[in-house]
Amino acid sequence: MKSLQINTFKEYKEKYEQSVSDPEGFWSEVAEHFQWKKKWDKVLEWDFSKPEIKWFIGAKLNITENCLDRHLETIGNKTAIIWEPNDPDEESRYITYRQLYVKVSRFANVLKNNGIKKGDRVCLYMPMIPELAIAMLACARIGAVHSIVFAGFSSSALSSRINDSQCKMLITANEVYRGTKPINLKKVCDQALENTPSVETVIVYRRTVEPTEMTPGRDKFWFDELQKVDTPCEAEAMDAEDLLFILYTSGSTGKPKGMVHTTGGYMVGSTYTFENVFQCKKDDIYWCTADIGWITGHSYIIYGPLCAGATTVMFEGVPSYPDYGRFWEIVDKLNVTHFYTAPTAIRALAKHPLSLVEKHDLSSLKVLGSVGEPINEEAWHWYNDNIGKSNCPIVDTWWQTETGAMMISPIAGITPTRPTFATLPLPGVQPVLMDERGNEVVQKSMEASEGRLAMKAPWPSIARTIYGDHQRYKDTYFSAYKNMYFTGDGAYRDASGNYRITGRVDDVVIVSGHNLGTAPIENAIDEHADIVECAVVGFPHDVKGNALYAFVTKYDDCKTSDEDLKIEINKLIASTIGAIAKLDKVQFVSGLPKTRSGKIMRRILRKIASNEADNLGDISTLLNPDIVEEIKAGAL
Ligand code: WT7
Repeated sequence: MKSLQINTFKEYKEKYEQSVSDPEGFWSEVAEHFQWKKKWDKVLEWDFSKPEIKWFIGAKLNITENCLDRHLETIGNKTAIIWEPNDPDEESRYITYRQLYVKVSRFANVLKNNGIKKGDRVCLYMPMIPELAIAMLACARIGAVHSIVFAGFSSSALSSRINDSQCKMLITANEVYRGTKPINLKKVCDQALENTPSVETVIVYRRTVEPTEMTPGRDKFWFDELQKVDTPCEAEAMDAEDLLFILYTSGSTGKPKGMVHTTGGYMVGSTYTFENVFQCKKDDIYWCTADIGWITGHSYIIYGPLCAGATTVMFEGVPSYPDYGRFWEIVDKLNVTHFYTAPTAIRALAKHPLSLVEKHDLSSLKVLGSVGEPINEEAWHWYNDNIGKSNCPIVDTWWQTETGAMMISPIAGITPTRPTFATLPLPGVQPVLMDERGNEVVQKSMEASEGRLAMKAPWPSIARTIYGDHQRYKDTYFSAYKNMYFTGDGAYRDASGNYRITGRVDDVVIVSGHNLGTAPIENAIDEHADIVECAVVGFPHDVKGNALYAFVTKYDDCKTSDEDLKIEINKLIASTIGAIAKLDKVQFVSGLPKTRSGKIMRRILRKIASNEADNLGDISTLLNPDIVEEIKAGAL
């Protein structure tokens, strides 16, 4: 593929201008870089009031031809995937583009052989092994819609997702290794399958030699099925707007939302942003530490990197095994050039001795990435100083499951960065800040502003609907502001137009009539040398309306008394934000409740702080449900 990469900041500004003044012209130029079976009749039609969004209308393509077939002649022998096992003594796997092409085609025939057709939904509940990539691409090859469920979710979370989209098949592995303990995935599936009448077939990949219970007629081994089919598999001609995948994301209330992504726009959006934000060159080794069960893994382990012909690393394990230096050991071993992770991982690793970093050679690194939540100042500097050695641009990439691809982010080495700022919108992205009354906050020159983040116009990889519930899609994203997509986030914009995401707007607390974002308060607290992490929420207060409650974890070797620590924290807040943001209550805890993707569950903390702890809702999907009891018992 000819390069899609922007080379200078001036070029970025020109492209950005063009993408706003002539979106159809801009995106058709980008789309020309891909392989289509038939080109589009029209680039874009949209109406946010319905809402209805269509890109590359009339075009036909198959995304796997873009990820695989078209690379065969040019880079067929290049490594597409490097797989790094949980156990460092087990061998890594290197899979070339040609080998991946063969494996995907063959497994696509397994799907067909088991009655899967274009449009059928297939659920994948798999560990981070190459077969997950193979299965998802095989679905795309024949036009089946994959719905990947993160393999840490419980059986009830799995069955409700399978039922919501009526999956015909489930693909899993017998076991998975994460750290020291093997987890029996097949058992979780068997439990889920008690309540999922739509599933006809289960394909089981044998990751370990442990015996696996199989239900005759329903369960089949991956390897046995492969023996029954040939290799070649024609790629199904997909309409640009045909479904590529469904991915569930939790809503602020109610059941998970099955976000629907379609083929053409998603391919163009994920690949264009991958190419530009990371600026990977020919021999670079790119590693995103996310799980493929999240959108980050879909767009930036598989589809974006493979369409771009990059070498992408897949890691099966956890950052703490065999020790907290594992990430850096892998960077050293594989000569990773691009490293993309989450602030929560950075903070966890920063807690451990620097010697775990320093014993590894990180000189191969060129670019560092961050995603998933606002990166606080302290974590940003730790990452920059100790991992990047002040020599690697940090791309703080803001986006969402719903956006499919990065939206606001620096372009590595091109956009000037600023700690804790996601900086500028990528070409094709038109952010606006909205005020309390629903009016646009107009940027005056040399003036910073703040508001709720919305988008004025569609981009190619925007989710088209919520599976089976278009009304909820409309209510959630298109009802807050007329003719706009509402992100649910708040943002601050500096005088140069750089965005800093301040957190979900449901995390805003109004104290004595002042609008306070909890993220900047948390940032201030995190600055304290004794503090690991914290979460700030509001709780009802007679006089102020709301007051602030902080849940704080401190380092084991902290010598300051809790009383003194509270005073020092409040001084820090007063000096960085203002006395108005001082905390009324500070509870020291041994951990914070987190989702499996590492986000702090503020909903639970808000309830505990508000004395409504007997009504916590479902906490079974938490990473650490046990912590909730401890926090409840110590509530102030
Ligand atoms: C929410 C979306 C996008 C992939 C992973 C998360 C927050 C995401 C950033 C960032 C500040 C961020 C936002 C957003 N978020 N990236 N760089 N800076 N906040 O996807 O689970 O759909 O969550 O994550 O609040 O709305 P997701």
